[in-house]
Amino acid sequence: MTLPQVFITRRLPTQLQRLEEIANVEVWTKRQPPPYEVLLEKVKKVNGLLCLLSDRIDRHLLEGGMSLRAISQMAVGYDNIDIGAATARGIPVGHTPGVLTDATADLTWALLMVAARRIVEADRFVRAGEWQTWEPDLLLGPNIAGATLGIIGFGRIGQAMARRAKGFDMRVVYTSKHRCDLELEQKLDVEFTNFETLLQLSDFVTIHTPLSPETDGLFAENEFALMKKSAILINTSRGAIINPNALYKALSSGEIAGAAIDVTEPEPIPTDSPLLTLDNLIITPHIGSASFQTREKMASMAIDNLIAGLKGERLPNCVNP
Ligand code: DGY
Repeated sequence: MTLPQVFITRRLPTQLQRLEEIANVEVWTKRQPPPYEVLLEKVKKVNGLLCLLSDRIDRHLLEGGMSLRAISQMAVGYDNIDIGAATARGIPVGHTPGVLTDATADLTWALLMVAARRIVEADRFVRAGEWQTWEPDLLLGPNIAGATLGIIGFGRIGQAMARRAKGFDMRVVYTSKHRCDLELEQKLDVEFTNFETLLQLSDFVTIHTPLSPETDGLFAENEFALMKKSAILINTSRGAIINPNALYKALSSGEIAGAAIDVTEPEPIPTDSPLLTLDNLIITPHIGSASFQTREKMASMAIDNLIAGLKGERLPNCVNP
């Protein structure tokens, strides 16, 4: 019996044994993702593809995948994959929801605190030998306790942020495509509001909505103009939700006080981006889910999805409608 062929676009932080028992597995072992042209060639020959958010899986690529039976993405977000084209070709696409909620909320929370209390600037200040004495007005930032947190997108990660915020005595407002039920709102002690009001009310704004045609470029000049001058914006979702020129303008002109982003468009951010010159911006390299345990679970879940797809079974976590 010939085993199905599988291509995995990077080394995974888990054992491949379960998959290797039912398939011939090829792993791309370089640090950089396989170039698009390489992916095109691979996809022509395989039955299963395990990919990452840095791999572009578009209509053209899928057209070449005549034998493709399943695609499994090791991420919760899947904006890099043309789901419509995959569905039209009958290819199920899997993803990894749930297992990265806490890790991502933790990183988001860390960015909120680090931005508020200017920890990156403070560290640079010490290393530069500028610490001379205790100063009453040195590196001041806003209080977190008592401040208002605005959460955009109230899925798993948005709700995990609300739970963390309560431990810090914050007021939490949220906006979302679908309002959650009153019981959950009461349990989490959160208030539903519209997007514009949230921007006007919040001391901290955090983005937890997926990238879609509606959220692409959601934050542009008008949105920054609505925010408080003292506000801090955090984004651990997808870079394209914020227009980078508008962000630069808002931060450099003092329209908002600061930002902390784990995601950029493109990724990596070009090293000559003007954003990298700003002291009131913190940037991390898309590490929201980067805990040992979480990445292991994501990889294992992605393998489960792929195995199910190769066997012709329903993927445990399938994104196709
Ligand atoms: C995801 O899963 O979509 C994150 O952005 C990467 O962990």
